[in-house]
Amino acid sequence: MRTKIIAGNWKMYKTIAEALELVKTLHYGCQCNATEVIVSPPATALPKVAEFLKDSYIKVAAQDLFWEDFGAYTGALSAPLLKDAGAEYVIIGHSERRQYFGETNETVNKKIKAALKHTLIPIICIGETLTEREAGQVGEVLATQITNGLAGLTEKEIADSVVAYEPVWAIGTGKTASPAEAEEAHVIIRQLITKQFGNDAANKLRILYGGSVKPANSKELLSLENIDGALVGGASLNAKDFIEIIKSCT
Ligand code: PGA
Repeated sequence: MRTKIIAGNWKMYKTIAEALELVKTLHYGCQCNATEVIVSPPATALPKVAEFLKDSYIKVAAQDLFWEDFGAYTGALSAPLLKDAGAEYVIIGHSERRQYFGETNETVNKKIKAALKHTLIPIICIGETLTEREAGQVGEVLATQITNGLAGLTEKEIADSVVAYEPVWAIGTGKTASPAEAEEAHVIIRQLITKQFGNDAANKLRILYGGSVKPANSKELLSLENIDGALVGGASLNAKDFIEIIKSCT
């Protein structure tokens, strides 16, 4: 039985004060032990959020990292620095990083290895664009992202990681993949993982769905066999909506 994960990706929103207000509401508003809950504040608010959540059931993720540990890399944040600030997870390869910051499957691979080396759990984002879906290339795109993005990892590393299937056309658009489309993609991902890393890793790996998840659709998506949680953008900025999504796991 895979424990479900509900992760909030706050993207470039929330000042430090706003971030603290939101996590306080989440922490006191929903004591949930059956589900792993993660929030991913912007780097500026991460240390304060992590400090507040030190003894909470809610964990903290960074939104990106650079693969070197230290060095002259202006503007970058490494795994050791993010751990020091209180992160336990890190989102890697989000489609917005791929689209606006030149992230590729190769850089994603280096970042995953850097995260794992420092025991930061990677939340690895993959997913197809609308053009790719319309061209019938979903399986092919996911296969390339998995083969190249996860190259060189061990079975144990995969079993302990998290993958987020986020169809690019569903992110921030209000369009959600239908439950059937989402489940189908998750099954493809689990099959690809089985082929590359074996049954055990594939059975343990948590695969989250992301893309316009909201209280109105979370229950149905989260009830599907291969959907082990959600990576939530817009709806995670609102405590009431995020709590409803967390509660829809049970
Ligand atoms: P959304 O974002 O829920 O606003 O579509 C999801 C994500 O980008 O992770």
